[in-house]
Amino acid sequence: MIRPVALSPSRRLSCASTESSGKQCVAIPVWVPGAVAEALRFEPSLASVSRFVLEDIELDGYVLNAGHFMTLSTMAAMRDEKVFEAPDTFDIFRTDRQRWHLVFGGGAHRCLGEALAKTELEEGLAALTARIPPLQLNGEPPEIRGHVSVRRVGAMRVHWSIAELA
Ligand code: HEM
Repeated sequence: MIRPVALSPSRRLSCASTESSGKQCVAIPVWVPGAVAEALRFEPSLASVSRFVLEDIELDGYVLNAGHFMTLSTMAAMRDEKVFEAPDTFDIFRTDRQRWHLVFGGGAHRCLGEALAKTELEEGLAALTARIPPLQLNGEPPEIRGHVSVRRVGAMRVHWSIAELA
């Protein structure tokens, strides 16, 4: 489960799911793209892509039979320890981030809206944290459900104090 995280200039963001909840959530702009990319890896909104097998394909000692419909888990691939160091750790400062983020699929049908999606998420996070620096998680982090296709996100309550904004 992802947790809104402590992002103060003096403190490196490290947000393992096991860490205590209720941390302050403040970002500096240069960290935003890394935070968005890591959030999309760690708790993706889309968990898999589907493919129809056109011809028999040998893969790792198995055969994918022609005619079969396959659901490929990008969610699992994005926790692959052969690709990501400490894959179960949320770390916006990863140096093993992929050039082409797998959450947007791959090949001819790779997401056409990738640039727009990333821009919206980055601009939204940057604006939110710039306008409301003392924003904090209030209670439990949202529950994110589902391991196939589009995932569901529960409610997330936040709070901040007007005094801290002044
Ligand atoms: C975080 C947000 C998004 C994620 C995680 C996402 C992910 C994906 C994935 C995994 C695919 C299938 C790729 C494949 O089969 O290999 C896809 C396809 C597609 N996405 Fe997105 N997407 C997002 C946002 C958007 C937005 C904002 C738009 C448009 C405004 C968009 C438009 C499309 C289109 C048109 C396709 C079909 C491409 C094709 O079949 O050639 N997506 N997306």
